[in-house]
Amino acid sequence: MKVFVGLYPNYLIIIAMVLGVFGCSTGQENQDYPYKIGFSQLTGDDAWRQTMHREMVGELLFYPGASLDIRDANYSNEKQIQDIEQFIEEGVDLLIISPNAIEPITSVVEKAYLQGIPIILVDRKIDSDLYTSYIGGDNHAIGEVAANYLVSLLGSSGRVVQITGDLAASAAQERKAGFEKKLQEISQIEIVGEANGYWVEDRARKAIQNLLRDNPPFDAVYAHNDVMAKAIKQELSLLPAFQQVKVLGVDGLPGPEGGVAAVLDGHIDATFLYPTGGDLAIKTAIDILTGQPIKKEYILQTAAIDSTNARVLALQSEQLFGQQSKIEHQNKLISDQLLRFNAQQTILLLIGALLLIFLVLSLIIVKAYRSKLKANAKLNKQNLAIEKQRRELAEKHESLILLNNRFEEVTRAKMVFFANISHEFKTPLSLILSPVEKLLSRPDLSYQDKQTYLLIYKHVNMLQRLINQLLDFRKIEDDKMGMVISPIPFSSFLKNIFNSFSHHAQVKKINYSFRADLREDLLWLDQDKTEKIFYNLIFNAFKFTGKGGTISVEISEEPDKVNIEIMDNGEGIADVEAIFERYYQVNTSSLGTGIGLSLCKQFTEMQKGHIFAESQKDVGTVISISFLKGKSHFKGLKSVSFKDDFSDSNDIKELYAENSLFEYNEKEVALPLIDDAKPVLLLVEDNDDLRTYLKGNLSRDFKILEASNGTEALLILHGETADIILSDVKMPEMDGFQLCEAIKKDINFSHIPIVLLTAKSEEESRLIGIGLGADAYISKPFNLNLVSLRLRKMVENRDNWKKAFQTNLLLTEKKEGEAAMRKLSKTDVNFLNQVIDILNLNLNNSQFGVEELSEKVGISRIQLYRKVKSLTNYTPNEFIKTFRLKKAKEMLEEKNFNINEISMEVGFSNPSYFTKCFKKHFGYIPSDV
Ligand code: FRU
Repeated sequence: MKVFVGLYPNYLIIIAMVLGVFGCSTGQENQDYPYKIGFSQLTGDDAWRQTMHREMVGELLFYPGASLDIRDANYSNEKQIQDIEQFIEEGVDLLIISPNAIEPITSVVEKAYLQGIPIILVDRKIDSDLYTSYIGGDNHAIGEVAANYLVSLLGSSGRVVQITGDLAASAAQERKAGFEKKLQEISQIEIVGEANGYWVEDRARKAIQNLLRDNPPFDAVYAHNDVMAKAIKQELSLLPAFQQVKVLGVDGLPGPEGGVAAVLDGHIDATFLYPTGGDLAIKTAIDILTGQPIKKEYILQTAAIDSTNARVLALQSEQLFGQQSKIEHQNKLISDQLLRFNAQQTILLLIGALLLIFLVLSLIIVKAYRSKLKANAKLNKQNLAIEKQRRELAEKHESLILLNNRFEEVTRAKMVFFANISHEFKTPLSLILSPVEKLLSRPDLSYQDKQTYLLIYKHVNMLQRLINQLLDFRKIEDDKMGMVISPIPFSSFLKNIFNSFSHHAQVKKINYSFRADLREDLLWLDQDKTEKIFYNLIFNAFKFTGKGGTISVEISEEPDKVNIEIMDNGEGIADVEAIFERYYQVNTSSLGTGIGLSLCKQFTEMQKGHIFAESQKDVGTVISISFLKGKSHFKGLKSVSFKDDFSDSNDIKELYAENSLFEYNEKEVALPLIDDAKPVLLLVEDNDDLRTYLKGNLSRDFKILEASNGTEALLILHGETADIILSDVKMPEMDGFQLCEAIKKDINFSHIPIVLLTAKSEEESRLIGIGLGADAYISKPFNLNLVSLRLRKMVENRDNWKKAFQTNLLLTEKKEGEAAMRKLSKTDVNFLNQVIDILNLNLNNSQFGVEELSEKVGISRIQLYRKVKSLTNYTPNEFIKTFRLKKAKEMLEEKNFNINEISMEVGFSNPSYFTKCFKKHFGYIPSDV
């Protein structure tokens, strides 16, 4: 149940709230009476109507689900019409109306009724029958009872004044009519004055005041309600002449403000009970809505209340009020209980929810705990596995250490062996050196021989130097390298080394400079090691600097040290950090052992010096060395001895004697004139010395073409014809294997025999070479005579093969041809087979010549010429003709055709020309066959 109170007084709101709370607080509102009841009240501003509302609300408690919406029209007809219209619009289930006035309200009530809304009129009526039920007191009867009472009070004569309610309302009209009619019937009492008090206090006061002015005196006042009666009695009590005037009211409400109490207190003289019928209105509404039978009119009874019965009535109503408030108190308790119940219910629900959450959380925790246990188990397993792996690793590590130790032992043993061997080399080398020196000093030496001896001299020297370096290394590794420190006049000492390269700088046209700026020239150093350092560094600078480049050596000074810089503007060193590492090899055509620079570092650091290199590709390299002044830094070092004097040995010149041989390449010997009859040899070798040496020795038998690597060789082959190629394997850019592969794959060159020359004598390299189509393989060191012989033989073989091809291939079919072909490279075999197939297909075509053949084979006429000539010794033209004749001979032998037919069949349009050619080729005429 709900009550909507609009703009009603506080107590109503409170009641409504209590009920509302009660209604809502159950939380599960009983929907037995789901009705919306609207109440259009003419005013809510007086005690009588508030009593009505209280009764209604009390009654509504019995109908859960039903709601009551009370709207106050405030005595305004317009407002009331508006309220009713709104109720219609909102679709209330039933309307209770207490009409403010008859006429203005009638039509809107009819409208609602006609729209099917049941209408209950309370207290007042309208001018129509279009309503469902009327509930209210009998106002006509009230007028009559009042008249009767007045007669009993005044006797049959007297003067009375009537203060009416709003006469537009049925209640006022009927109260007036009943009163006047009855009074006339039963008495002579005269109504001496009448005024409209409009039901309210202040207007009633004004009304009586007006009447007092016009019509005094009078004995009694009949007011249409107690509110007006009380005000009038009060007004009259102020006037002595009117203090005895009896004042009668209507309503007789219980309670301290009501008419009963007013009678008891003497504030009015009598009142006539006018019940509100609020509870009945609600009951009737529910009956209508639930389809119960109802009456069209419920008329409530009236009774006179004066000093004789007021006390009893007051007592009764007090009791009633007491019970009423008890009920209300009970209600309040119930709602409190309900509230508490609801709260408990909510708490219970919350506890339930919490319990559920707790349960779920417990479950999750248990699950998590279980999976943690599982994960732990897994982790333990993994840990075990890791531990196992760790142990295995440790074992492996141990065995690696063992292996490493073993390896070091082996290495040491190797080094010892190496050093021993190097020692072994030293004697034979010096035994070569001295006879060569002797030979070189002979005055009758031819230029050619001198060059040969110089070459030997240079390379034996180089070998000696390498061996010395190796031995130095060994010494350092064994910690056996001692030092002899002596005072060196450093500028002149370094200038000496510098000068030993001057000649080479001239030949190579290198801008070669030396600058020394030293105040304190004496440096304590190991002379031998320092010589080696600078020789190596300058040598290296030359190695990386091309013709016309710049090399400079500069010495400068700081208070405690001397700095030396060797600069070049050569090609630069890519991995400059690594050049001082042992066995590091700069990736360039100048292939070395990589020992020299490493030794430089070792020697420098032994002498407490610093060495460091900077390099930029194609810009140059700077090597900087610094040595400390004085000799205190050598103190405490083991295996250091001091020598106080310095002797510039001649060794240095000997040591660098090989240097002078740089000129060997430059002053090339004029070779014997090229003899066209000689086969052409393409010599591919990156080492200039070796190439020159080979050239010098092979040019007797060959016309020589030179290339320093595979790429250059291929370039040369595109312009020149070679009969044989002799190539080194290890070369920069394109090595011998790559060259071999390229040549054997190219139809233009595949016929040229290639011989590989290499220091790699292992079987593996040999196999690679042969797999790639190399025709022969000569390993270093070689015997030059043998090389020359081998090359000549190969060229001869090729010539013989050509002859064999001419005689055999064209004379006999298949087998011998195949045997001959087996000596050719695959490319060449394919080539020849292709040519023969094409010729077979075009045999009877007399127009088919060299041009057509070169087109079909897909190479130029020149290439075709070179190729056919080199493989068969025939020119392509001769080859075609010979092929036709050979075919003709075969056909003649088969004896299936005559000569004319055969000559046509092999592409000779003229038989006599055929006979002529045949005779020239075979030595006899066709008919002899
Ligand atoms: C209250 C009231 C009562 C009276 C009734 C008549 O508003 O004035 O005092 O009896 O209306 O409709």
